[in-house]
Amino acid sequence: KSISLIGVPTDIGAGHRGASMGPEALRVANLSARLAKRGLDVVDRGNLQGPLNPWLPPQDGYRHLPEVRAWNEAVHEAVHAELALGRLPIMLGGDHSLAIGSISAVARYCREQRKQLRVLWLDAHADFNTAEVTPSGNIHGMPVACLCGKGPKELVEVGGHVPATTPDVFRQVGIRSVDEAEKRLVRESQVSIFDMRHIDEVGMKRTMEEALAGVDENTHLHISFDVDFLDPTIAPGVGTTVRGGPNYREAQLCMEMIADTGRIGSIDIVELNPAFDKKNQTARLAVDLVESLFGKSTLIR
Ligand code: ARG
Ligand code: MN
Ligand code: MN
Ligand code: MN
Repeated sequence: KSISLIGVPTDIGAGHRGASMGPEALRVANLSARLAKRGLDVVDRGNLQGPLNPWLPPQDGYRHLPEVRAWNEAVHEAVHAELALGRLPIMLGGDHSLAIGSISAVARYCREQRKQLRVLWLDAHADFNTAEVTPSGNIHGMPVACLCGKGPKELVEVGGHVPATTPDVFRQVGIRSVDEAEKRLVRESQVSIFDMRHIDEVGMKRTMEEALAGVDENTHLHISFDVDFLDPTIAPGVGTTVRGGPNYREAQLCMEMIADTGRIGSIDIVELNPAFDKKNQTARLAVDLVESLFGKSTLIR
């Protein structure tokens, strides 16, 4: 498979500045060379362009709505173009609002190719808020709802197909922070959630078997990897840390089991915030885990 790296340097959807530096931090951590070393053909397409962060308060429940829309139009077009070329796009985020553009493009590609879509949403958060219930107005807390057709028309219509996709394609893993009213929305939508309690009770192995059940030769697997999925002791370089996440070994197992399916078609790496990091350790860890997603394993087989 040929990989295209796409930088999305924005923090427009976040509540802290700095995720806009994520793409460069991943490059500094040598993402491209590490994947090339695994025998993959990798091209770095550089960064997409979009509006600067005006750093304004929310308006009608949304912060920076026009700017988030502009970024996501660019992401949608870029991701769809790479998929149409038969390549595997990796988004170097950027905050998690960019998943509206990337996943809407992947869903469109799957409709065109008659493929089954499965999205693994690795995150501490469910990102299923709407303007009515959001505690912050930050749109990085809303992409899953928007993709399922719940949100402002500006975002729900990105890519032109409404809804962009449906709740049944999502498997959320690592969840441990869901806002009160957001819980009700998630429950009503029937998105499958494997929260930290589930991982504690049955282990990462069985959790991933469950999350990957039904993935077959015709499945396009999209990985939306919010770096705050990881426990903050190993991944401090994110804006919205939540304690009690997967440790290094659990995260490795998660990535290795995804690699074993051989069905990865596209990836988002989001919410990496170098302003909160020390010596780029979180970017280096993310690169380490992405290598595992492409089959680097500690097992001797
Ligand atoms: N639930 C909170 C909110 O909506 C936090 C969302 C964090 N999302 C993220 N992609 N880091 O404001
Ligand atoms: Mn998160
Ligand atoms: Mn179960
Ligand atoms: Mn997220």
